[in-house]
Amino acid sequence: MDKLLIEGGARLVGETNISGAKNAALPILCAALLSAEPVTFTNVPQLKDVATLLALLGQMGVAIEREGDTVTLDASALTEPVAPYEMVKTMRASILVLGPLAARCGEARVSLPGGCAIGARPVDQHIKGLQAMGAEVAVEHGYVHVRASRLKGARLVADMVTVTGTENLMMAATLADGVTIIENAAREPEVVDLANCLIAMGAKISGAGSDIIHIEGVPRLHGARHHVMPDRIETGTYLCAAAATGGDIRLTGVLASSLDAVIDKLIEAGCTVHAEPDAIRLCAPPKLTAASLRTAPYPAFPTDMQAQFMALNCIAQGTAVIRETIFENRFMHAVELQRLGADIRIDGNTAIVCGIERLQGATVMATDLRASASLVIAGLVAEGKTLIERIYHLDRGYERLEEKLAALGANVRRIK
Ligand code: UD1
Repeated sequence: MDKLLIEGGARLVGETNISGAKNAALPILCAALLSAEPVTFTNVPQLKDVATLLALLGQMGVAIEREGDTVTLDASALTEPVAPYEMVKTMRASILVLGPLAARCGEARVSLPGGCAIGARPVDQHIKGLQAMGAEVAVEHGYVHVRASRLKGARLVADMVTVTGTENLMMAATLADGVTIIENAAREPEVVDLANCLIAMGAKISGAGSDIIHIEGVPRLHGARHHVMPDRIETGTYLCAAAATGGDIRLTGVLASSLDAVIDKLIEAGCTVHAEPDAIRLCAPPKLTAASLRTAPYPAFPTDMQAQFMALNCIAQGTAVIRETIFENRFMHAVELQRLGADIRIDGNTAIVCGIERLQGATVMATDLRASASLVIAGLVAEGKTLIERIYHLDRGYERLEEKLAALGANVRRIK
């Protein structure tokens, strides 16, 4: 298994380009299931999760052409509307095929994702929504089995804000008979990007980006081209890495407006941030100030940036209180950061981080995608060498991580 060796101490300086968003690409690739015509996507990041999803779509009979960051999917001959456990267990986002398959094929069998490192993460809201649209849903032998001759438009009120739940139901509703209204919808920019892709395919959607989305079903969707939005979490991660190392970087190909809450916190921590529409420059202070935060659905501070900010706070001046409200078990990075010398106390969903002068390199274990990113940031500032094990988590969500970090001056090497 690959490991990442980081020699701490280098300031990150320079410019790098941000890739397409993993969390936008995954639902958007699934949207191709809704049409019998080819759909072409550009700015698709080359990541393990994308490869897993493409393998899953291929197994269903989708024809795939891929050249660099351009992917064309042709779902005219869907043969197997099934997502097996072996695939879903490696990537929960596979659940995103459920809505499109139910709408297009009238049938789908998708493995229940089960738990994951960061919490239980049930899919009851996805199921409840499809049932309200007239689907018969049975959960048997660990699989969700959906049947529906044609889904019917309905008023759906989610019990909590769920990103993939909103995306699944929005996709299903595009081909339903009549109007669907999703209330308490997720407002994440990735939901808007998916809606824009669906609209390009002929869907009638309004309100994406607000908490009420209207979808008027159409009989079929057609082929289209769509450019995947920039990855706001990758952007935020590099900004944190630069902030932690006292760096000065410029990121291009970003969507600055999707990062307001993160930028506010970086400014609170003492950074100077200059945001242009498609680029961001960050200049770090000699010493960061602790910045407390609370994660919540967009537009509030993203849970996917919580671990990276914990790493920053480990070496900031003062004490930060970090409250995680989305996932119940998303502090696994804290124990690994403690191995680097961090002063962190966990009390339920709250972490209290007292900044210390410097972290010390050690061997640590990556436990999930964003936890791994926090360990990279910590390794970049720690004294001496940090060896991060199980970095396959990073490969799920960060395109060419070592290459981009090295270009910014980091001393980082993958060990095969
Ligand atoms: C998506 C993102 C993930 C991010 C998360 C929260 C993708 C591929 N992944 O995950 O990176 O961390 O949003 O911003 O876009 N819940 C239920 N029942 C459901 C659905 C969700 O109880 O049917 C709960 C979850 O357990 C969690 C909360 O709702 O506590 C939010 O989860 P959700 O927004 O659905 O996360 P994902 O869409 O899986």
